[in-house]
Order: sequence, then structure tokens, then C-alpha cells
Amino acid sequence: MAVVRVRQHVNPLANKYQTPADPLEWEKIYLQPNQPLHLDIGCARGQFLLKMAQIEPDWNFLGLEIREPLVVEANKLRSELGLTNLHYLFCNVNNSLNSLLSSLTPGTLQRVTIQFPDPWFKNRHAKRRVVQPELVVELANYLAVGGTVFLQSDQEFIAVEMRDRFRENPAYQKLGAEEWLAENPLPIPTEREIGTMKKGEPVYRALFVKR
Ligand SMILES: C[S@@+](CC[C@H](N)C(=O)[O-])C[C@H]1O[C@@H](n2cnc3c(N)ncnc32)[C@H](O)[C@@H]1O
Repeated sequence: MAVVRVRQHVNPLANKYQTPADPLEWEKIYLQPNQPLHLDIGCARGQFLLKMAQIEPDWNFLGLEIREPLVVEANKLRSELGLTNLHYLFCNVNNSLNSLLSSLTPGTLQRVTIQFPDPWFKNRHAKRRVVQPELVVELANYLAVGGTVFLQSDQEFIAVEMRDRFRENPAYQKLGAEEWLAENPLPIPTEREIGTMKKGEPVYRALFVKR
């Protein structure tokens, strides 16, 4: 399999990423559009969803990613495997969620994952991080009651920032008494997670449920 080469980071605040994605026609992208939807934000090459879609055929999966060549490649692989419950979309999540999710049947969005988002270490780059307070609010508007948000990172300061942004919003309840989850509740690890675990480094994880 040829692996497409792309820039490691793109700046989501750059002019070329300011056009929101067009609304999705759900019945064109999924065979069964009314199945519960799992949204993976910053899916990169999409390997996590590719496996999830195969083990959970009664869910639909949507991966959002700002690096377009990765999306093209991931959709190609999806088509080669003939998966009808999986789609990848090129967009900047920070300006596209409303347009994407407003046409969704209410109650459909039941799981959101944000895994190992780009940390943008410098304070002056903090606005480039994907988990902004507005994103937390937008997700609350579309997530079904009882739906979950799973967050994980190998960078403690990013894990704290995103966890606190969800924790501060009364629409969500954090699950588990511990500061961080001991284990990933999902059956498939992401590429970044596999790399981190191989190095024996810690992963900071939190799970929220929509009230
Ligand atoms: C470090 S990678 C993690 C990939 C994968 N979730 C994993 O755990 O292996 C973060 C991904 O988020 C994407 N990303 C960053 N900002 C984004 C944005 N505003 N909208 C969509 N994708 C974004 C990046 O291009 C990158 O592919």
C-alpha cells in the first residue's frame, strides 16, 4: 500500500481553511443513514475508524480531517473494502460542525472521539488547538442524551485543557471518579496511541456523557 506523504501540521487558522464544509447528504454516504453515528475528530489516516467500522457494522462512522490527501486516501481504502458505514471528510472541524451536523436526524450522533489532537505547545498557538470552548458547545447541541465523548492525549497539559473544557460545560457529566481513566473503553487503539504505548509513555484519558 502506498502511503501518501503530507505535512505534519497545518494551521487551521490559515485563510485556506476558513470555508466551512458543505452540509452532508447522509443517505448518499451511508447505506443505513439512521444508524447511530460515531464522529472521530482529527482522524488522520483513519485506521482507527477503518477497524471500528468493521467490528461495529450497526454504527456509522464519520472521520473529520484537515489534511485533504489523507482523506482521499482513507476514502479510497474504505471503498476498496466495500464498507458502507464509513466516510471520511476533509474539513476544518472548528468552522464546519454546524453545517455538517444540522441535517442529521436528531438523536443520531451518539459517540465522539478526539484522540491525540495536535498539541500546539506554544501559548501563542493555543487558538490552533482543536478543542476550543465553541466546539464543546456545538457538540453538546448535536450529541444525543446519553451519547459519549472520549478524549485522550499523550500530552498531559492538552488532556487537562480539553477535559476541563468539557467538565466546565453543564451539558456533560464526566464518567469515573478517577482523574484519568485507567484504560481505553474502546476496542481499537489509534495509531498515535499504539506508538505512545510502545514507548511505554502515559496516556491521559477522559470520558463524558451528555446529560
Ligand atoms: C496528532 S494527529 C492524531 C491522529 C489520530 N486521532 C490518532 O490518534 O492517531 C491529529 C490530527 O488532527 C488533525 N486536525 C488538527 N486540527 C484539525 C481541525 N481543525 N480540523 C480537522 N482536523 C484537524 C491533524 O491534521 C491530525 O491529522
